[in-house]
Amino acid sequence: MNASNLAATVMERIEALGQITEEPGRLTRTFGSAAMRQANELVGSWMRGAGMTVRQDAIGNLIGHYASNSPKSKVQSPKSAVNSLGSPVAAEPKMLLLGSHLDTVRDAGNFDGALGVLTAIAGVQRLHASGTRLPFAIEVVGFADEEGVRYHGAYLGSKALAGTFSADDLKRTDARGITMAEAIRSFGGNPEALAEARLDSNALLGYAEVHIEQGPLLEQKHLAVGVVRAIAGQTRIKLTFTGHAGHAGTTPMNRRRDALCAAAEFLLDAELLARGKDGLVATAGEISALPGASNVIPGEVRLTLDLRHPEDLVRQAALNELQNRAAAIASERKVHLDWRLVHQTAAVACDPRLSALLGQAVRRHQPELAMLPSGAGHDAAALAAITPVAMLFVRCKGGVSHHPDESVAVEDISVAIAVMDDFLQSLADR
Ligand code: HGY
Ligand code: MN
Ligand code: MN
Repeated sequence: MNASNLAATVMERIEALGQITEEPGRLTRTFGSAAMRQANELVGSWMRGAGMTVRQDAIGNLIGHYASNSPKSKVQSPKSAVNSLGSPVAAEPKMLLLGSHLDTVRDAGNFDGALGVLTAIAGVQRLHASGTRLPFAIEVVGFADEEGVRYHGAYLGSKALAGTFSADDLKRTDARGITMAEAIRSFGGNPEALAEARLDSNALLGYAEVHIEQGPLLEQKHLAVGVVRAIAGQTRIKLTFTGHAGHAGTTPMNRRRDALCAAAEFLLDAELLARGKDGLVATAGEISALPGASNVIPGEVRLTLDLRHPEDLVRQAALNELQNRAAAIASERKVHLDWRLVHQTAAVACDPRLSALLGQAVRRHQPELAMLPSGAGHDAAALAAITPVAMLFVRCKGGVSHHPDESVAVEDISVAIAVMDDFLQSLADR
């Protein structure tokens, strides 16, 4: 079973998974949805086909387990456990986590998230086909929610495994007023048992994630894959400007408290600030104007701000500046501002040792090793709280992502599979 025919299978599975959506005509698969249940069933069958036992944890992460070559490895646990007679006690084998997320943004491409889960399954498939067991177990995770589309807080699945999930988040409601706790329960999870989903960091070797680059650098360098150096920090804010609705035809301009004009002025200021600061990106992905009629001055506008930068201090300073700007605009326009922090994660450096091992594997498959920043967030950012993380980026056409035009060449998937196979082998040989 070589990397190129595994890559062909991954490509077929990407297409099949891309058909599982909650919005006919476009790919949208959000946390706790029926589409997510269908995706877990399909991906779970592929995990079983690769010799894994499959479970779904309390928040809905799909987890495939591939046992090590010795249920009780001879590897000394870090605490060099000895029994009462002083002889070494066989430690539980360490475990390597692989995977990525199975949820998507709205009108998504097929590869964001899915590529990481399916290449991980392909790697285990290869071991299983040759009857190979490594001195560590492997768990492939399909995370339940990385994008945060339904509840706006990202990394719900990986935070549950990292033990950093905040129980307050269970009270969040979605656009239909359904709490996260209810969504987890109806999905078959157990919101009261999220603490048990946490993995023991002592039992982990690390986490490695394959992901599309979602940027142009690998294409510019004519490289199939690259190793991620660090993941940018991000802040998500929900803003509400509240003015006064009124008649579009009879309200003089100097008597208006137009919430949409306030929001528009704020957004242009945010864009200006980001354009002026290298590496800073500011985005308003969602906006709604109420009551929402063409002949009514908008009385209330709700919008989101997504702010990112590789350095946390720069992002924080920009955030403070924008919050002050929003407040100044609100006061000048006599509208009320509600500014709410919804999600925030610090920048995360990938583990140098694990990344060096990954880099050596890359060098065996392409002439140059590129170390890349990630402007996008990833589950690796959440798992870095409990274990070393490394990421392999795969070239995507035009760097396009979070768009149905997302595309990856099957040859590049084949390189990624071969690199990950070498990476597993070098971890096993250590
Ligand atoms: O938004 C992101 O950076 C990622 O796609 N969750
Ligand atoms: Mn994404
Ligand atoms: Mn992603």
